[in-house]
Amino acid sequence: MLKLEVNNLYKNFGGLQVLRDVTFEVNGPELIGLIGPNGAGKTTLTNILDGAIKPSSGTVYLNDKRVDTLPPYMVARAGLGRTFQVTRAFRRMTVLENLLVPAMALHATGRQNFEAKAREVLDFLTMSHLTNEYGRALSGGQQKLLELGRLLMLDPSLIILDEPFAGVHPRLMEVIYEYIHRVNSDGKAIIIISHDMDTIFTLSKRLLVLNYGDLIADGDPQIVKNDPLVKRAYLGEDEEEG
Ligand SMILES: Nc1ncnc2c1ncn2[C@@H]1O[C@H](COP(=O)(O)OP(=O)(O)OP(=O)(O)O)[C@@H](O)[C@H]1O
Ligand SMILES: [Mg+2]
Repeated sequence: MLKLEVNNLYKNFGGLQVLRDVTFEVNGPELIGLIGPNGAGKTTLTNILDGAIKPSSGTVYLNDKRVDTLPPYMVARAGLGRTFQVTRAFRRMTVLENLLVPAMALHATGRQNFEAKAREVLDFLTMSHLTNEYGRALSGGQQKLLELGRLLMLDPSLIILDEPFAGVHPRLMEVIYEYIHRVNSDGKAIIIISHDMDTIFTLSKRLLVLNYGDLIADGDPQIVKNDPLVKRAYLGEDEEEG
């Protein structure tokens, strides 16, 4: 069963402290929302978890293996997959190739081993008709779907989705909802970062709130929503007044 342990993470960029003593665990196939104002440190946290940047201090363990010291491809091999807030489809490769390349790179084996799976993934994402289109021909929303597909090719046990719904057409949002539910019931843990409160409260079973570097809440979404600290810091309600 998946276990992520995040222990006392700090991150400074020069004089700017972006994360301060962030500690939490993920146990098993949880479905977690991560919210916080612009600049709260959500993407920075994701970048540390996937190995793209190193914390100033603190540790991260994935299934009892220390990963904060590893490069991203090794963290991916250990079972963590993430998408990017700004999508990164390969523009001069076809949709099918976009799916095959990361899987082949990670497992260092040939294309034939992954092609059937890639076609299944495209079918699931309602993108089969785009199999031979170039990455550059896709809409923003389709590129987001393609990134979700690339994750499935790597079969991670924990997935972090950084703003998967931003700028996505409502029809594609449905596909992403379905993806999240299916992948989660397949036994994968998912952390969803979003500013879309309706979506976050609909989807997540647990909510983490980052407020300028501090993890100020972690728990049941309905309880977190009514936490005075969260209301004041994030939801913009000032119940002290009046
Ligand atoms: N490489 C970097 N160098 C310097 N400062 C950075 C760097 N990356 C992020 N920051 C700063 O760290 C803070 C947190 O940024 P981060 O992108 O993690 O926030 P976020 O919660 O993802 O925000 P958003 O909701 O807008 O995506 C911001 O003040 C940002 O400007
Ligand atoms: Mg961000």
